[in-house]
Amino acid sequence: MKTENDTLHQPLSSLTGDVGGRAYSLIDGKATAATIKAEIKEEVERMVAQGGKRPHLAAILVGHDGGSETYVNNKVRACEECGFQSTLLRFEDDITEQQLLDEVQKLNDDPNVDGFIVQLPLPRHISEQRVIEAIDYRKDVDGFHPINVGRMAIGLPAFVSATPKGILELLRRYEVETSGKKCVILGRSNIVGKPMSQLMMQKGVDATVTVCHSRSKTLKEECLQADIIIAAIGQPAFLKSDMVKPGVVVIDVGTTRVPDASRKSGFHLQGDVDFEAVAPLASQITPVPGGVGPMTICMLMQNTLAAAKHEYYD
Ligand code: GUN
Repeated sequence: MKTENDTLHQPLSSLTGDVGGRAYSLIDGKATAATIKAEIKEEVERMVAQGGKRPHLAAILVGHDGGSETYVNNKVRACEECGFQSTLLRFEDDITEQQLLDEVQKLNDDPNVDGFIVQLPLPRHISEQRVIEAIDYRKDVDGFHPINVGRMAIGLPAFVSATPKGILELLRRYEVETSGKKCVILGRSNIVGKPMSQLMMQKGVDATVTVCHSRSKTLKEECLQADIIIAAIGQPAFLKSDMVKPGVVVIDVGTTRVPDASRKSGFHLQGDVDFEAVAPLASQITPVPGGVGPMTICMLMQNTLAAAKHEYYD
């Protein structure tokens, strides 16, 4: 059984790329996620063989948003890959806030459900914050409840939001030096930017963190000094080659759907980084797709396993 700190050992050819004759190293989230899911599955089968029950993740999906449907379907598929039980509860977008809160309460009270998520965004007539705060923090495998957010911020065991947790795991597995390094985070969202900044400065990670956002006046100057840039600003191809220094490590969180008639889906995913331009300057970089995205779902699985094992809370 591998431990969390094991690094990936892949053929170098699968890890390197070449744009304009300069080599860079790819941080392969897809392969890392597959490794971690296999590790989780191994542990689950061991738990079941010893008479334990399979971890059970439930998901609430409201409405028919294309992106949300894809994300939730991928989460259900990941549950199967990890040997988890999963339940998908679907509701039309005319569900009232009270009806949704009642559904949340049912999952809070269901001893067979270890953890659950309410897929966001919700329809405008429903307060996302009210729904998040209604989730039992001990089952909040998204790590969105203020108790988990607060505990994470002060370094206590807690469910951590899956995207920043996945990024930290990538940095660890690819042995990216973070201690004393200057890390610039682009974006201040509750799901990525804010928790990412807390995690990068925590003891053991030890980066010096700067958070830039749409109102930052010195964003480019900050980026030019950064050893690590985490781009989560939601603007396609925002980070350009004249904003990074050679040798930078770049993590791209962006997943904008850009219309593309040449694709069967009708779109392709564009990250927040101008990959073709920035990759030749980077020492390591995540692609889109196949970088942060697969890690996010994988960390949700890790959180669900932790919930089933009561790792953080009794
Ligand atoms: N919508 C976009 N990302 C997420 C996520 O990580 N969790 C939930 N519940 N909704 C999302």
